[in-house]
Amino acid sequence: PVADRVADLLSRLTLEEKAGQLTQFFYFGSPQVPDGVDVASLPPEQQAPVRVEEAVRDGRAGSLLFVRDAGTVNRMQRMAMRSRLGVPLLFGFDVVHGMRTILPVPIALAASWCPETIEAGQAVAAREARALGIHWTFAPMIDIARDPRWGRIVEGAGEDPYLGAAVAAAQVRGFQGDLGPDRLVAGPKHFAGYGAARGGRDYDDADISDSELWNVYLPPFRAAVDAGALNVMSAYMDLNGVPASGNRWLLTDVLRESFGFAGFVVSDANAVRSLEVQHFARDLTDAGARALDAGLDMEMCMYDPAFARLPEAVAAGLVTEEQIDTAVRRVLTVKFRLGLFENPYADEGRTHDLAAHRDTARVAAERSIVLLKNDGGLLPLAAPARIAVVGELATATRDSLGPWVFGHDTGETVTVLDGLRARFGDGVTHAPGVHLPGRVFPSIFDQMEPPPAIPSGDQDDAEIDRAVALAAGADVAVVVVGQRQNQIGENASSATLDLPGRQLEQLRRITATGTPVVLVVMSGRPLDLRWADAHVPAIVQAWYPGTSGGHAVAAVLAGDVSPAGRLPFTWPRHAGQVPMIYAHHRTFAPQDQDKRYWEEESTPLYPFGHGLSYASFDYANLRTAAGTVAVGATTEVSVDVTNTSAREADEVVQLYIHQRYGSASRPVRELKGFRRLTLAPGETRTVTFPLGPAELSYWNAATRTVVQDATTLDVWAGGSSTATLSTRLEVTP
Ligand code: IFM
Repeated sequence: PVADRVADLLSRLTLEEKAGQLTQFFYFGSPQVPDGVDVASLPPEQQAPVRVEEAVRDGRAGSLLFVRDAGTVNRMQRMAMRSRLGVPLLFGFDVVHGMRTILPVPIALAASWCPETIEAGQAVAAREARALGIHWTFAPMIDIARDPRWGRIVEGAGEDPYLGAAVAAAQVRGFQGDLGPDRLVAGPKHFAGYGAARGGRDYDDADISDSELWNVYLPPFRAAVDAGALNVMSAYMDLNGVPASGNRWLLTDVLRESFGFAGFVVSDANAVRSLEVQHFARDLTDAGARALDAGLDMEMCMYDPAFARLPEAVAAGLVTEEQIDTAVRRVLTVKFRLGLFENPYADEGRTHDLAAHRDTARVAAERSIVLLKNDGGLLPLAAPARIAVVGELATATRDSLGPWVFGHDTGETVTVLDGLRARFGDGVTHAPGVHLPGRVFPSIFDQMEPPPAIPSGDQDDAEIDRAVALAAGADVAVVVVGQRQNQIGENASSATLDLPGRQLEQLRRITATGTPVVLVVMSGRPLDLRWADAHVPAIVQAWYPGTSGGHAVAAVLAGDVSPAGRLPFTWPRHAGQVPMIYAHHRTFAPQDQDKRYWEEESTPLYPFGHGLSYASFDYANLRTAAGTVAVGATTEVSVDVTNTSAREADEVVQLYIHQRYGSASRPVRELKGFRRLTLAPGETRTVTFPLGPAELSYWNAATRTVVQDATTLDVWAGGSSTATLSTRLEVTP
């Protein structure tokens, strides 16, 4: 059994080798040390690859990150297998939404409201990554994000804990499944509360109430643990004043004791060293000791790990060798479960059915697209002869893929223009129009992908004129707007939600030509679309749609596919309104809740769960099984959904509740069930959801316990969070 093999190996490791098993190093490739130069004279980042190779040879490294080709995996693995005890390395990477075949970004996957699609997509990502020798992904990112200024909103499932939990579990199943030879260890992150960064500024501290932490931020993690995730990554920031990566309450009391997590915890990159930087730990030895003591098992680090000082920490009495053994046991268990001792190497000749993978990515993109607006039935396009496509993003092979894609062969990307040409033929013309400003930031990832050049805006006036003229002579203009992929993601917060550069000015001029405009938005966060919503007839949220994204956009515009993606967040009117969520609480003056600002509406532009269809649906007969249910028991709620149109289409049926009284006041609406269905023309389907303790109990901050109240519930079913069909359910003591 694995436990015996782990115990045997553990008994033979020295204390230094044990600390090594708990260390994960960045490795970007072979050291580049000029002949005759003394390595010790180089700056630490240049010494790093040399030191990492030394550590691997000496059995002082447990894992590497960022190696992404089978040849390098095997070269480094051979080094490890020749070390004193030949313990294989674990290779980790940010496989976030694809490896070679890039899926739509995770917020888009969440917008599909389709766990099966998400699971299938991440299974493809796992297969492609595992074939390169990668064993473990630092994904899914399951941080709830309620402030779209935060760039990492693109990596998660948005604002809602119920949807977030379902998407988290689906991704764990997709990545990790049975941990067979095509699967990856899943590492949900960032535990916990990282998405609540103050002001949406990445890495800033998070101050989260007890109630929000348990009811909103933690449920996706519990779901990921329940789905079997073998790894969890700790967050950087201070959570309520204590850094998450040195927070014993969080990493041990909550994660292990309350959630029953049995895998290993890795730090975010350099987060253990950062315990000193954040003025929490006295020095690096203290940082390592406090992280380990908190329950963190592996340090991810660029160079000079704090965990290399664990033997010192033992000698100083800061931690015990037993604590180190516990962490090593967790890491080795995963290595044995992966079968690395039997099969440490990657198969360098491995090939894939890429056509099938691209199909999976296309279907995921089609299902993720959200039709925000469609006045006068402009969409689907009725066989237009001349389509003017405007925008740099329409031809962007890199930006269409979104963040967390490095050094990629972007030649495989089907752009929006490619997709439209393939679907509509020669009448499709293109003008890039205004240049989108890029964002160049110094980043550790520059070593994997050099920062893009910022285009000069010198030619903008001429380019805008050209785009306007092209649009003026067309039957329809498809204007692609949004943000570049490097204007979102890690360390890419945004102070406004404005369309960057002169995109809005260009859109106004194109609209003024009188040619009907379809606006295609490529972004991973809500942008300020107030003007567009008031003046442009059709708006399509395409996200960063991935390798096959252009085909998906074209299929939706052509009507080959009826869009059914739904917003996984509330779309505010502008940045001054954020954070804005649908599941807020009632207030002292609920009748005025939509009029809180004197100069702006306090309603969203588009509500959570919103998304239009080419079909129409009727909801009827919302009923509960008996009208009452006892606390602790489970009942059912059903609704009949009819496709009242003449075309087959998907619909996302959503169930919301509100508790009218109890031992705490609860949000005005909470999602408690959803199902994506395909309905034939005229077809009626009854959809049934359970309502019981799993849906109705919550963490009460006053009693600090999970409670379920006897109460009266309002229950709504429909196609968005503004559904009006409702019934009541009495929950009796
Ligand atoms: O996995 C990531 C994490 O999400 C943010 N910091 C860097 C890590 C490794 O790339």
